[in-house]
Amino acid sequence: MKIIIKSSEEIKKIYKSCQLAVDVLEMIEKYVLPGVSTEEINNICHNYITKIQKAKPATLGYNGFPKSVCISKNDIVCHGISNKNDILKNGDIVNIDVTILYNNYYGDTSKMFFVGNKISKKSKLLCLTTQKSLYKAINILKPGIRLYKIGEVIQNYVESKNFSVVRNYCGHGIGKNFHEDPQILHYKSYDYGILLRPGMIFTIEPMINIGHHDVYLTKDNWTVKTKDKTNSAQYEHTVLITNFGSKILTLRKEEKIYL
Ligand code: MF3
Ligand code: CO
Ligand code: CO
Repeated sequence: MKIIIKSSEEIKKIYKSCQLAVDVLEMIEKYVLPGVSTEEINNICHNYITKIQKAKPATLGYNGFPKSVCISKNDIVCHGISNKNDILKNGDIVNIDVTILYNNYYGDTSKMFFVGNKISKKSKLLCLTTQKSLYKAINILKPGIRLYKIGEVIQNYVESKNFSVVRNYCGHGIGKNFHEDPQILHYKSYDYGILLRPGMIFTIEPMINIGHHDVYLTKDNWTVKTKDKTNSAQYEHTVLITNFGSKILTLRKEEKIYL
């Protein structure tokens, strides 16, 4: 385990990559509509990242992942692969996860999109609870806090709403590497005594299910789905530990209103 503390120069570069990822999420919003294929969404993101941002979509070719963003719909938990025959319909909930590589540093963020106006009450509550669990975790971040507290806060809140926390995937340190130490678990678990320190940068990205937390890997070897076919939601931020608290490096304009 080697947690890399970032210098102020590195923090600036990671912040830039994070803001490029934010720009992709804000740009794609108006295209997430009934009748649009997930492949079209992926391609719009790909062209924006490569041609306008002059950046690299980090998931493309990462361990063989075939697409430029992950698009995970309804009972897909994470790592969804877009497809031209996969057409969004009114009532779908969709996570788009964008990771940018720019100037040798990574930035990683995701959010849920509602397709059309017929989202079920349960799915809306699922998304809201997932987003709130992320904010509650971010709110406790400061130097000296034990790492396991992040998972504890998320699990306590999510289970109080009778949803469940996916155990098989976690957040991660990020910087010169897409995934680096430490692993950020979203449920309470032993943390080897690790304390948060200024200059740490990592993601928090809870995956929350309506039903049971069990998931399985599908035949394409990437797409992760809930075992019980209930919907799953995820929100992801890249955060920096500062001297007195934390800073969300992937904060979007819409979030400034109610954070
Ligand atoms: N962006 C994802 C994360 O939050 C990782 C996707 S890896 C991929 O860590 F290969 F599936 F793209
Ligand atoms: Co991530
Ligand atoms: Co991500």
